Amino acid sequence: MPSKARPKKTGPGPQAEGAAERPQMKDKPGFSARKVAADILGNVVHKRRPLDGELDANSGHSGFRELAANDKSLVRAILGACLRHRGELNELLDRLLDRRIPEKTGRVTDILHVAMAQMLYLDIPDRAAVSLAVDHASIDRRAVPYKGLVNGVLRRLGREREDVTGDLDANRLNTPEWLFDSWAAAYGEETALAIAAAHQNEAALDLTVKEDPAGWAERLGGIVVGAGSVRLHRKGAVDALEGFAEGAWWVQDAAASMPARLLGSLEGKRAADLCAAPGGKTAQLAAAGARVTAVDISKSRLKRVSENLSRLGLEAEVIASDLREWEPASPFDAILLDAPCSATGTIRRHPDVPWIKQAYDVGVLSEVQSVLLRRVAGWLQPGGTLVYCTCSMERAEGEDQISAFLADQPGFELVPVQPEEVGGLEAVITPEGYLRTLPCHSATTDGGETGLDGFFAARIRRL
Ligand SMILES: C[S@@+](CC[C@H](N)C(=O)[O-])C[C@H]1O[C@@H](n2cnc3c(N)ncnc32)[C@H](O)[C@@H]1O
Repeated sequence: MPSKARPKKTGPGPQAEGAAERPQMKDKPGFSARKVAADILGNVVHKRRPLDGELDANSGHSGFRELAANDKSLVRAILGACLRHRGELNELLDRLLDRRIPEKTGRVTDILHVAMAQMLYLDIPDRAAVSLAVDHASIDRRAVPYKGLVNGVLRRLGREREDVTGDLDANRLNTPEWLFDSWAAAYGEETALAIAAAHQNEAALDLTVKEDPAGWAERLGGIVVGAGSVRLHRKGAVDALEGFAEGAWWVQDAAASMPARLLGSLEGKRAADLCAAPGGKTAQLAAAGARVTAVDISKSRLKRVSENLSRLGLEAEVIASDLREWEPASPFDAILLDAPCSATGTIRRHPDVPWIKQAYDVGVLSEVQSVLLRRVAGWLQPGGTLVYCTCSMERAEGEDQISAFLADQPGFELVPVQPEEVGGLEAVITPEGYLRTLPCHSATTDGGETGLDGFFAARIRRL
């Protein structure tokens, strides 16, 4: 039984010499997937690299890109479990060890987390998880002195799992303190706990359809949620689903589809989608009949806007530019500003967010949001409408932005959101008339379906 995090004095042993052993180990079934999972976990939690980037098919982690499709799915599942349960895994290690593993051996913790996640949250036999973790520790220069400890801790977890896991407070442990405090201050402690609980599960697949949500829900075996989105509870490739190739719908969380709907009828109007990539909202504006100008600073992300529009048979003028410098030739009837934000509303889909973002980021981003909002509001026609939104649950990126804007910009007024504009979901409208969705909110009026990304949106009219 391991009692200390101190390595044995013995040398690393023949396996740790590395190069000669590596090809053999690599061939062991399941080994590469576990190694890649631990590598990527380290990149996310120690280097704060976004998980999506690590898993990108073209530019992601090279080891991940080389894996077979079933191993890629396994890596995704392991990382999802490691990140959703990160606080619990850390607490368990504290319970199983007498002293912490030194920081500089972060790799040991990553290897342990990958194995523990398999043992506790995935349907993988303990024996396989333990043995592959020990194999990994054996060939890793920084981890090899701890390979005995890896073996001992994991075996003990296997033997004592009921005892050591029984009283874990998952909701609190898996939420960094600064985030929990921020949500408790904004929405109350009970709601903060409900938000944290919602983050323990993956979100459903939501689609925005060009038309006929009820018909598409029936065809695809889903239900209509939110303000007319189609929700499917299924995993697997979306491009194999009916309607994908013909461009009948696109993937977009039910809450993410609400801000663009607040612009109302857009037929023939000039609309700007500012901070547009990857383009879910651009597609909504174009499908609503607007002449759309889509602007984003990121050329690579804008490529996806163009690809999506072409699959959907929709059109927009797509411009790569920094909104702090770009100027439109003439004013717009409608503007959607989906400002860059901390993305804390998307944790169900991006479980890395709590571990790569910090309170500091919210401060920096809220300054950018304030600058962008004031600048782009000036591009609105008199009588025109602007919707400001963020996929954040932090008030500094939502409510506080709009109250400060309205206080110092007398030429604009708030146009409150009405329940019928958001599928009758009264709970997602604040007393001021803002849209404020949370992951614990119901997505249908009968309360039968829960779960929305955390979004803020406010509608403003230029007087
Ligand atoms: C929340 S995402 C937009 C999501 C998009 N509206 C959608 O629905 O698919 C924010 C976007 O803001 C862009 N961005 C950040 N700073 C910007 C700036 N100064 N000028 C233009 N775009 C910017 C980022 O590249 C990113 O694509």
